[in-house]
Amino acid sequence: MKKNKHTLILGDVFNSLGKIKRKVDAVIVDPPYNTANKNTKLLKGRKALSSDFGEWDYFKDDEFLVFTRKWVSEIKKVLKENGNLVLFCKLEYISDIKRIYESLGFSHHATIIWHKTNPAPQIRKNGFLSSNEAIVWATNGFDNKKISYTFNFSNQREMHNFIETPICMGKERTKHPTQKPEKVIEFLIKIFTNKNDLILDCFAGSGTITKVANDLERNSISIEKDSEYYAIMINRLKELKNIKKITNQ
Ligand SMILES: C[S@@+](CC[C@H](N)C(=O)[O-])C[C@H]1O[C@@H](n2cnc3c(N)ncnc32)[C@H](O)[C@@H]1O
Repeated sequence: MKKNKHTLILGDVFNSLGKIKRKVDAVIVDPPYNTANKNTKLLKGRKALSSDFGEWDYFKDDEFLVFTRKWVSEIKKVLKENGNLVLFCKLEYISDIKRIYESLGFSHHATIIWHKTNPAPQIRKNGFLSSNEAIVWATNGFDNKKISYTFNFSNQREMHNFIETPICMGKERTKHPTQKPEKVIEFLIKIFTNKNDLILDCFAGSGTITKVANDLERNSISIEKDSEYYAIMINRLKELKNIKKITNQ
């Protein structure tokens, strides 16, 4: 029987991190992408095809980078020295995000590509299908002599900086619009954490990190500010033992 502990916080990342009383081993996180309202395609006689996931994903001008700098500085305070920071982003933002975390004292190590085998179709056939997302990996500081971060290398065949899966479907799928597949999260948790580590996900959505953390015998803290998504997460994780719920709104 799994004995791992999970804390689920309903609240905004900026006023919830103070509830975390011990340092975490890793931050694995799928923050807003800044895609909303930019890609709505109106096609005669069809439902609008859009990447507008909700208010939470909409930023004006440079606000997205300001927001990114703000949350990365906050999680740095709760992440152990040499702890892993692993975050999803659009390919277009890799270098901006890398520059932000490097300026805050993180060391960039790699970029992984997630290829979706079933992306939304390109109806107008005037551009590429959006089938790739990036996952960037950095550590909170880096001592070249000791190299003491967690990196579980399995074998040469598995350790490409590339993972290919369908987008989240079937029984696994909840109503969250940007739910990540468990297979992708499993890949990351196995490489970047060890059994019984504590993982922080401060943009938790439907709770995929906690679900997989529990399956792989890790502990977790998940923060989500939207009460509807939080309810989806609670429902998804209802079978788990050792859940502590905190409302911070
Ligand atoms: C890309 S989604 C995460 C989806 C998640 N990986 C899953 O598999 O379901 C980002 C989430 O961050 C939440 N969010 C956005 N801003 C936040 C903030 N300031 N504090 C806490 N959560 C926030 C959104 O409500 C959204 O559910």
